[in-house]
Amino acid sequence: MRVLSGIQSSGRLHLGNYLGAMKQHIELQNEHECFFFIANYHSLTTVQDPPLLRQYTHDVALDYLALGLDPNKVNLFRQSDVPEVTELAWILSTVTGKGLLERATSYKDKVAKDIPASMGLFSYPLLMAADILIYRSDLVPVGKDQVQHIEMAQDMAVHFNTTFGREVLKRPEPKLNDALVVPGIDGQKMSKSYGNAINLFDPPADTKKRIMSIKTDSKPVADPKDPETCSVFALYRLMGLPEEVAALRERYTRGGMGYGEAKTLLAEVVERVLGPARVRRTKLAADPDYVEDVLTTAGRRARAVAREVMADVRDACGIVTAKGTHG
Ligand code: TYM
Repeated sequence: MRVLSGIQSSGRLHLGNYLGAMKQHIELQNEHECFFFIANYHSLTTVQDPPLLRQYTHDVALDYLALGLDPNKVNLFRQSDVPEVTELAWILSTVTGKGLLERATSYKDKVAKDIPASMGLFSYPLLMAADILIYRSDLVPVGKDQVQHIEMAQDMAVHFNTTFGREVLKRPEPKLNDALVVPGIDGQKMSKSYGNAINLFDPPADTKKRIMSIKTDSKPVADPKDPETCSVFALYRLMGLPEEVAALRERYTRGGMGYGEAKTLLAEVVERVLGPARVRRTKLAADPDYVEDVLTTAGRRARAVAREVMADVRDACGIVTAKGTHG
């Protein structure tokens, strides 16, 4: 079983990225062959500041490694170390109807949030499909917001195979965990671009401040509270131990506990999970050569797989190139 997923290097990573995606990736590394990459070509749709893009790209690698991704078990690499994905994205665009891309809710959301509607933003799902299909991936662990993109990749794989009459591309399946949509401090989906994120590696005091500012209703301390509609509880449920979650649920429904206390408990659990990772991250940050070596080595392995699949893709659609053009 081949597992693949990507994360954009378009800003600091947050609890939504960790709980929805990275946590699954770290768990899956012990069971399957894994390809996890930093989607820096995708990030160009929103970050057009070269030093910042370089920094964010390095930071995603640091975050992944600090959280427990083991480079001896998985391939952690940069999207741009496999330039063949952009070639496959083009080829897929020739067998994909414009209407399919027009239905992408993520594109519509981004444009509604005033992100410029570039062709790159519009064709984002084509590059994402290429990322997935170029490794003949079986499983794509992501948060719920990415499922529609994976369904598009399924359509594109089937359409390519039908058009050229050969089973060249594999139809991938999305994989979700219990953190389908992690809420931000305003109760909406936590997102880098919505200003509502709790970042993974801010200084602990800033993280606590962010947690204390999570929006709740205004029920007085004495009243029973509904854990199911509270963002503080939603985050606690994803990070606490089962017995801790059960105890907090009981305190919500019994009444007599203020939201301030629930937020303090959440801040403790968040620090328990992220504290040790922060220490590892500081050590890794002091050794950029090691991180570069991890990315380069895995990028070569990923590219070797991509080259083989692309040779089949070109052959299937009749694209001829001079010997040696593709290594
Ligand atoms: P990106 O960088 O926006 O997010 C990375 C991962 O984090 C998940 N995620 C969330 N999950 C639950 N709740 C949230 N609030 C939340 N916010 C983010 C996302 O679902 C994602 O899994 N298009 C992808 C990057 C990508 C990719 C790919 C992924 C490019 N090519 C190929 C898989 C396969 C993206 O924008 O992720």
